[in-house]
Amino acid sequence: MSELLSVDCDSTVFHLVWSDGTHATYPYIWLRDNDPGELHPHTRERLFDLTSVSLDISPASWQQASAHLLVKWHDKSSESIYPLDWLRENRPGKHRADPAVVSLNYWSAAELPAIPRFDARLCQESGSILVEALQEAKRHGLVIFDGLEDDDQAGENLGELIGFKRRTNFGTTFEVVNKPSPNNLAYTALPLPLHTDLPNQEQVPGYQFLHCLRNSVTGGASVFADGFRICTDLRAQAPDDFDLLSGLQIPWRFHDENDDVRFRRSIIELDSMGDLSGLAFNAHIADVADLPSSQLLDFYQAYQGLMQRIREPQYRICHTLGPGEMVMFDNRRVLHGREGFDPGSGERHLRGFYVEHNEVNSRIRTLAIS
Ligand code: OGA
Ligand code: ZN
Repeated sequence: MSELLSVDCDSTVFHLVWSDGTHATYPYIWLRDNDPGELHPHTRERLFDLTSVSLDISPASWQQASAHLLVKWHDKSSESIYPLDWLRENRPGKHRADPAVVSLNYWSAAELPAIPRFDARLCQESGSILVEALQEAKRHGLVIFDGLEDDDQAGENLGELIGFKRRTNFGTTFEVVNKPSPNNLAYTALPLPLHTDLPNQEQVPGYQFLHCLRNSVTGGASVFADGFRICTDLRAQAPDDFDLLSGLQIPWRFHDENDDVRFRRSIIELDSMGDLSGLAFNAHIADVADLPSSQLLDFYQAYQGLMQRIREPQYRICHTLGPGEMVMFDNRRVLHGREGFDPGSGERHLRGFYVEHNEVNSRIRTLAIS
């Protein structure tokens, strides 16, 4: 562990230097606002009221003790104690270490020879194995849990350990079976081209889980493709299409007799750095494209181009889910679909649910840090 070499101050900041060359500058107002002693002892939430001091606050006095910086402020009777380790760890400009930040591996079929697999019982027994599975689900965008108990609730039971389920108009869980009077093409025996679920929702569901309860039909293999690999290739090979699909917002809509859920969003979503942050692709619930007529041909050219690219064999992987398997995939990154099946040949029943990214990230942190 490197030692603190020096503490200097001027009218607005402390400047600390460590023996390994790390140095950091701490404005007084930042120190006052982040006083570790002014957190509620149980909730660990900030109690300090920023409006109670002036922004040009400065210490009445200070001293360096062996492992702390002690600061006396004019507005506070007791001394503020800043552990040196805390100061180093929380220095301005450094983001908090986060086990939920995982480097992503974009894949084509050749780059993902097998879907990562985890034993469901081991994940249930061991937090360290579950966290590995969740980190892997972030890295590749999908994992399969296998060896689930022969119990229709087994997928949800594992899901409970990960985070609470997202409820939508399809319910908290949804039964993917061939139904009479379906309100969704997933509830038929038709093939489902690669898509992401529910771009019509204001908050697109984060992770989707599909637990296979029964699958004895002819056909019905699951298909997946990494939307971020496809979009990365699109950006390199057809940058104008990429810009159009990330710039234009289009309407999405699901409606039946009970609900009419609509949202406008672009097919490709970028974060504030211009990096990929989401793909929303579902031709079945794309609403009537209401762009100005002058934009429609360009839009269709880019949209159809992406659709054709998504279906290229180089990107798709297939797996026939069997009973006791549950696939978990990032619904804002990985496209999923299925081959059609013969409903007379047996039974196919998947139980689905969603858990938001936020919940999965939180579980990774609590498991990794405990
Ligand atoms: C879905 C879906 C795929 C399948 O329920 O969203 O796409 O394999 N199902 O039936
Ligand atoms: Zn789907």
